Amino acid sequence: MWQTSTMMEVERLTPKQFELFQKFIYDRSGIKIDISKVTLVSNRIRRRLTASSHPDFDSYYQFLKSKAGEIEVTSFLDAITTNETSFFRTPTNFDWLKNEYVKELLKEKADGKRAASLRVWSAACSSGEEPYSIAMCLSELSVPLCGWSIDILGTDISEHTLKLSRSAVYRKRTMQEFDEARVRRYFTEEAPDRYKLRPSIAEMVRFKHHNLMRAINEPPFDCVWLRNVLIYFDRESKTTVIDNIVRSLVSGGYLVVGPSEGVYDMLGMLRKRGTFLYQKP
Ligand SMILES: C[S@@+](CC[C@H](N)C(=O)[O-])C[C@H]1O[C@@H](n2cnc3c(N)ncnc32)[C@H](O)[C@@H]1O
Repeated sequence: MWQTSTMMEVERLTPKQFELFQKFIYDRSGIKIDISKVTLVSNRIRRRLTASSHPDFDSYYQFLKSKAGEIEVTSFLDAITTNETSFFRTPTNFDWLKNEYVKELLKEKADGKRAASLRVWSAACSSGEEPYSIAMCLSELSVPLCGWSIDILGTDISEHTLKLSRSAVYRKRTMQEFDEARVRRYFTEEAPDRYKLRPSIAEMVRFKHHNLMRAINEPPFDCVWLRNVLIYFDRESKTTVIDNIVRSLVSGGYLVVGPSEGVYDMLGMLRKRGTFLYQKP
């Protein structure tokens, strides 16, 4: 009994080690992890120790900081970040997209105020459920955006989740918002509980690696979705991300934020257009 608890103590990061990893994570991703999460972080880092054959936290940290360890940084950040997501998460955002936003786009086009094109960015897309839900919404319209050029981009800091996004194979647990008809419409069941998204939707979305702490190298977007990602960022990092995102929007473009972003008092440069919905003037 004594030995077990001692081993557990030894396996957890010391405050000094925690501080080093905390700073490293912050510098690389903008995520500021609180000391109250030390057990969680220790457990997640321990998985990487095993995978990269390092005997302890110190040698793993030295490796991460070295030139040779650069290749490990992505896997390390993958292990640390929270990738929980699902299709049509927060359905009201998708109701807005499908009902109000598309009407607005069609009117602008009819009034000669916009070309027949739409660019949407899912700015921390995890394993792809969010941008694919956007693609599904646009494909389900009663008055379709026929002949429009539609570009949906999904980005994430995690190469692992981007790989999952590109493979477009999902489990039932991420489809709580679907009825059976929708599951059959969009997926083919490849194996038990492995559903492959049909190409008609998969091909509407492209993915690329991007760290929100940097400006994106893309033409401006009509609509950006930034949901359930900034919760672990400190105020300074949130300001940097919001600044980058607002600059990536066209004027009149929309920002859709998640319910726990904690940035509502930082969006003064935008017009509030609904719950979790902002527009660049
Ligand atoms: C909880 S998921 C949110 C997925 C989706 N937006 C949703 O609402 O369901 C958060 C995602 O943010 C990503 N992330 C964390 N820090 C990031 C950063 N600095 N730049 C880009 N993505 C980041 C994580 O890798 C993770 O996939």
